[in-house]
Amino acid sequence: MAPKKILVLGADGQLGRALREAYAGARQVEFATRADVDLASPDSWPVRNWRNYSAIINAAAYTAVDTAETDQGRRDAWAVNVSAVTALAKVAAAHGITLVHVSSDYVFDGTEPLHREEEPFSPLGVYGQTKSAGDAVVSVVPQHYIVRTSWVVGDGGNFVRTMASLAERGISPSVVEDQVGRLTFTEDLAAGIRHLLDAGAPYGTYNLSNTGDPQSWAAIARRIYQLGGRDAGEVAGVSTADYFAGKEAAPRPLHSSFDLSKIEATGFSPAPIEERLKAYLGK
Ligand SMILES: NC(=O)c1ccc[n+]([C@@H]2O[C@H](COP(=O)([O-])OP(=O)(O)OC[C@H]3O[C@@H](n4cnc5c(N)ncnc54)[C@H](OP(=O)(O)O)[C@@H]3O)[C@@H](O)[C@H]2O)c1
Repeated sequence: MAPKKILVLGADGQLGRALREAYAGARQVEFATRADVDLASPDSWPVRNWRNYSAIINAAAYTAVDTAETDQGRRDAWAVNVSAVTALAKVAAAHGITLVHVSSDYVFDGTEPLHREEEPFSPLGVYGQTKSAGDAVVSVVPQHYIVRTSWVVGDGGNFVRTMASLAERGISPSVVEDQVGRLTFTEDLAAGIRHLLDAGAPYGTYNLSNTGDPQSWAAIARRIYQLGGRDAGEVAGVSTADYFAGKEAAPRPLHSSFDLSKIEATGFSPAPIEERLKAYLGK
């Protein structure tokens, strides 16, 4: 009998691209982009024989944190991060499919310096509210993994790429000094997701980021400048309040670091940030 299939949604996002690599050569894995499955219109989803699927990995999300605060953005964020996730949850529950969903540090207000999986939701902005609601829905699917992550870096627009480009062009940026967290390279995020499924780890929520001391965005930027052969002093630190003064921006949690002991206890060890950062920058 052919092995059951795994459907990856959001296959062209940062995580989606890494999942393509993590599952390279695995013929039972199907990758769907927005052109194949528009999550915002569940009624238009292609009909599938769900009995042939063992898992759905939802790597798609509305991730425009600041635009989510606008009238249209609020609707779009809820459509993708909550209504579509509810439709996926119904499918998964009805057909005994494992639903893998990706959550965010933005479900918390960031007052706790280290987030454990069971910390109650306390989102500050619309994006965080929709991610929290999505998590709540997925948590009642009998077979689910919620993988909660932070500060994602992969193949796409992200902070590391932006800073590396500024360093190359000799620009001296002001970078937020009072938000502290850990980067998550999509290579490890995708590997962690595959690990949970392959190992048949107990269902539930798992934190996942790379390892190392939590750092501010400014400290990470300074390291990127150093690795690019520039002076760390070219990066000025600024408070979140000053950085966003006069701008339409979502509120951000000040602490985004996760306790990683639960996923580590399943036998998965994410790589240190420094190692991944150097490799990402080709150093
Ligand atoms: N990025 C971060 O720093 C961060 C931090 C914590 C948690 N997360 C979570 O990590 C997960 C992966 O994030 P990421 O960084 O890989 O995000 P990403 O690069 O923005 O990718 C999101 C993907 O979702 C797709 N998508 C958006 N709306 C869709 C729709 N209506 N129908 C189908 N696909 C749709 C996008 O398609 P298009 O390319 O066509 O727009 C994109 O390919 C998300 O759940 C996110 O909430 C991210």
